[in-house]
Amino acid sequence: MSEPVVLNLGCGYQTSARCINIDWSLPVRMRSSRIGRRIAPLVLQGERLEAYEAMDGNTMRHDLRKGIPFADGSVDAVYHSHMLEHIDRDAVPGFLAEVRRVLRPGGTHRIVVPDLESQARTYLSTLDAALDGERRPVEHEASVHDLIEQLVRREAYGTSTRTGLRRRLENALLGDARKRGETHQWMWDRVSLPHELESVGFRDAEVVAFDESRIADWPTYLLDQDKAGNEYRPGSLYVEASA
Ligand SMILES: C[S@@+](CC[C@H](N)C(=O)[O-])C[C@H]1O[C@@H](n2cnc3c(N)ncnc32)[C@H](O)[C@@H]1O
Repeated sequence: MSEPVVLNLGCGYQTSARCINIDWSLPVRMRSSRIGRRIAPLVLQGERLEAYEAMDGNTMRHDLRKGIPFADGSVDAVYHSHMLEHIDRDAVPGFLAEVRRVLRPGGTHRIVVPDLESQARTYLSTLDAALDGERRPVEHEASVHDLIEQLVRREAYGTSTRTGLRRRLENALLGDARKRGETHQWMWDRVSLPHELESVGFRDAEVVAFDESRIADWPTYLLDQDKAGNEYRPGSLYVEASA
C-alpha cells in the first residue's frame, strides 16, 4: 500500500519524514533553495542551527494565507500544531474550510493548540496559591507569562537574542513577530475548537490524547512525541475531526 499523503502545516522546525511539511519561516525558506542551504550556518546559529540541522522530510515554502496548494480531496490527513492560534479569528473559518477542501472524504484533520482552559486554570491556581502564601509570586508570574507572552511579543524567536547588525538586518528583512506570524491572534479550548470545526462541516470532532489518533501509526510520525514516547508540548489541546 502507498504511503498516505499527510500535510504538516506551519511546521516550523518540527518536521516529519512522513509528511509534506509546509511553512513560510526562515528555516523552511533556507531549506527550500540551494543558496539558502549553503548560507544557513551563517544565518542560523546556536539553538536555531541545531534545530535546522535536525529537520527531517520534505519541506515546502508557502504562505498559508494564500490557501493550501493541493487539489480537492487529494490529501489523507492534515496536521497542524501551535499554528491555528496564529491565524486572525475572522480568517479561521476560511482556513478550516480550506483544510476540508484538500482532504479526501473521511480524511483526518488533527489540530494541536495551546489549551486556553488549562492555561487559565493554572493562572488562577497560582494566583490563589500566591495569595495564600503557599506558592511564590514567581510561579504566578510564570503562569501569566505562559498566557500572554505570545500575545504581546514584538521580536521574533531567535532574533531577540542576537546583537548589532545581524539583529537589525533580520528584523529589516523578515519583520517583527507579528509580521512573521509568531504572535497569537486567538486561543481555543475543548468547547470552542470542536464547535468551530463542526460549524464548517467537519464531522465527529473530539478531544484526543497526544498519542491517540485516527491517523494510522501516528506515534511514528514523531510530531507530538519523541521516540521514547514523551509528549513534545505538554499543556496542549489535541482535537481531531473527519472531513
Ligand atoms: C509556534 S510555530 C509552531 C511550529 C511547529 N508546528 C511546532 O509545533 O513546533 C507556528 C508556525 O506557524 C507558521 N506560520 C504562521 N503563519 C503562517 C503562514 N501564513 N504561512 C505559513 N506558515 C505560517 C510560522 O512560521 C511558525 O513556524
